[in-house]
Amino acid sequence: MTLRLVEPEPRHTEGWRRWRTDPDSRRFMALPAGDLSAWAKKLAKAKTDLADRTGGLYRWMAEDDGVPVGSVSLSSVDWNHLSGEVGYVIAPEMRGKGYGRAMAEAALALGFAGELERITAYICTDNPASIGLAERLGFQREGLLRRHAVIEGARRDHYLYGLLKEEWKTPLATG
Ligand SMILES: CC(C)(COP(=O)(O)OP(=O)(O)OC[C@H]1O[C@@H](n2cnc3c(N)ncnc32)[C@H](O)[C@@H]1OP(=O)(O)O)[C@@H](O)C(=O)NCCC(=O)NCCS
Repeated sequence: MTLRLVEPEPRHTEGWRRWRTDPDSRRFMALPAGDLSAWAKKLAKAKTDLADRTGGLYRWMAEDDGVPVGSVSLSSVDWNHLSGEVGYVIAPEMRGKGYGRAMAEAALALGFAGELERITAYICTDNPASIGLAERLGFQREGLLRRHAVIEGARRDHYLYGLLKEEWKTPLATG
């Protein structure tokens, strides 16, 4: 695997929408509204350089040998509190192969190098893959948020996970 995080480009839009609209993603993540052009605009709006602190949304596409396999974001970044929220999706046919972990590790490394001190994740209580990934990355479960968000018309319970900069181990150190 030679995973690289790259800047989102218009060519990524259709794949990203496909990954986000597959049944498992829809069960666990609220869907952005709108047609393909709205998705393209959303993709174009995200920044990739954490040195640019004029916004709160950073997103990267993960490519293995040039093939897009997933997308990872740091959103709700608050530069006063040096905190943000990680979000991730892997192409359905690529799940369970280690891409999620490699991709999220790369984004967390960027986040912490970019001076964030706390990164959170909100995860549906019945999403074992995302819970498994977050815990593998070292996130700690900090609480249960009852009926936290509406997904597919239903209010869903979420776990709040948190990872502090001082707890973060580099990918090499975690082995
Ligand atoms: C969550 C998601 C990104 C995980 O990506 P992935 O590439 O399948 O995960 P990986 O293969 O890198 O696995 C990483 C860790 O997660 C755990 N994991 C992955 N799938 C799992 C599953 N179905 N059940 C339990 N644990 C699982 C594994 O234990 C693995 O740890 P390991 O390195 O010790 O083996 C992927 O399943 C996905 O895109 N799901 C749909 C979208 C989604 O739910 N996003 C998160 C919303 S909060």
